[in-house]
Amino acid sequence: MERASPRLLKLVILGDSGVGKTSCLERFVNRRFSLQYKATIGADFLTKELEIDASGFAPESVAGSTPEDAAGSHSDDGSPQQSEQLQWVCLQIWDTAGQERFQSLGSAFYRGADGCALVFDLSNSDSLTNAESWLEEFLLQAAPPVPSAFPFVLLGNKVDLMRSRGAACEHIRERALAWCATHHRIQFFETSALENIGIDQAMTALARGAL
Ligand code: GTP
Repeated sequence: MERASPRLLKLVILGDSGVGKTSCLERFVNRRFSLQYKATIGADFLTKELEIDASGFAPESVAGSTPEDAAGSHSDDGSPQQSEQLQWVCLQIWDTAGQERFQSLGSAFYRGADGCALVFDLSNSDSLTNAESWLEEFLLQAAPPVPSAFPFVLLGNKVDLMRSRGAACEHIRERALAWCATHHRIQFFETSALENIGIDQAMTALARGAL
């Protein structure tokens, strides 16, 4: 039996320059990481197909981009598990440049977004302060009908640096937690594109919120 087409969800990833937006996306979609910094110019998108359990539990995301690759989980004996709550989605994730001069990208990049990932660097206090501005900018440009119900996730990236910069990062993390507590639709994830921590969970949670 032929499968129905996946549901397309547009996600936008925002945050200051250098916080690791492209790295998180590359890790999530292509399972790659590079320490070399190459500023994003303008905006670009990557796509990834996966199955989301719309009932609340997020299965591990599935690498690969073909429907067969993305066909989902299997039981212990290798046979596919069928669940009516699994939803096949195609994430179209827009990566925008964090540099000031690219910020006037225009509302086309934001319009129609189903979810937004805000990224900051856990070792950079300003990047967390600016995440709030990015949220305001997004709400202004995308103008979702019910802003308070719009799905956001906040990624505190470069958590691997906490080992060397302990106390300073800890303070920033507490600020992030406090901010998310006052914005009930924002889920906070500590991530590392370098060490592949938390990114699948964050993006899957965002996709589920966007369903
Ligand atoms: P713009 O394109 O300018 O908006 O930057 P960006 O937010 O896309 O940042 P990018 O992904 O290009 O990463 C910036 C630098 O941070 C690169 O040198 C990455 O290798 C590095 N980086 C990204 N994620 C991590 C991480 O989790 N840990 C560490 N230690 N470095 C990271």
